[in-house]
Amino acid sequence: MKYYDEILSITDQIKFKHSFVPRLSYDNIVIAGMGGSSIAGEIFGEIYTRVPVVVSRGSDIPDFVSDKTIFIAISYSGNTEETISAVEQAMAKRAQIFIITSGGQLGDIGEEKIIIPAGYQPRSAIGYLLTPLLRTFGLVDDSTVDSISNALNAVKEHEGVIKETAAKIVSERRIPFIIGVPPVPSVAYRWKTQFNENAKIFAHSVSYPEMNHNELEAIPNFFGGYNFEYFLSGIPRGQYSERIETTESIAGIRIHRLPFVAGDVIPELFASILYGDLLSYFIAVERGVDPRDVSTIQRFKESVRKH
Ligand code: F6R
Repeated sequence: MKYYDEILSITDQIKFKHSFVPRLSYDNIVIAGMGGSSIAGEIFGEIYTRVPVVVSRGSDIPDFVSDKTIFIAISYSGNTEETISAVEQAMAKRAQIFIITSGGQLGDIGEEKIIIPAGYQPRSAIGYLLTPLLRTFGLVDDSTVDSISNALNAVKEHEGVIKETAAKIVSERRIPFIIGVPPVPSVAYRWKTQFNENAKIFAHSVSYPEMNHNELEAIPNFFGGYNFEYFLSGIPRGQYSERIETTESIAGIRIHRLPFVAGDVIPELFASILYGDLLSYFIAVERGVDPRDVSTIQRFKESVRKH
């Protein structure tokens, strides 16, 4: 599959119907994963607020994990050593373990699993990785899938603007500065990682309104040589929509808005993910780099595996 089609396949991925059945009583949810797999947990944790959700990115898990923990390991390949180590620790603590993977070593572990289709880059399987979490905890069902599809289809109509923005970022050598807004600021981090891995450029992600208490000071005072291009990765609601204008005027910047009408949070966040994915894809095309290739990351993984 062409990488462009792999990105657009999110429109099919969100129709994936599998989910887990959590035990009746649990105190917290821990989601273990790295990189493109962990972002699904991060986004889920911002919209599911009934119990504490902690995203664990690393080999060790939090001390509080117990038999009252739902422990969800997400690794697209199933071979990420940090995530495997985290699962082994959670098994020792008798947490209820769920695994989302396309196979690999995690696919062989005798715990409850959802096996997702293989052959994608982990970061372009975001629909397969996130939808089971949303379904398991009742945030998405068959009736909401249509509104997510509609939101994703609307993004494709903006491809012309996305390409123009990509061309500007490349010709003016700009660094994307992505501002995430409540209730899902971590979508900005998803954009950042897609700029890193697809376009092979640095990007900076922050969350709103927190940035008004730190980054805001640096923007007008930053030393020369860097040009940022500012984006909102969500549609600000309530007081935040006006406050963004205040931030723009105080910092002396102009921030790109998503060209969608505000609607329900979940369709909007999927639409924003696709918008950021396409932007990073067209930057890669504009630069002449292969958006699929992550051989540097693979080299790192292989060298860690040998030791
Ligand atoms: C590659 C990518 C990476 C991986 C990460 C963890 O597309 O996005 O960030 O997601 O190296 O690997 P997996 O997802 O296989 O556990």
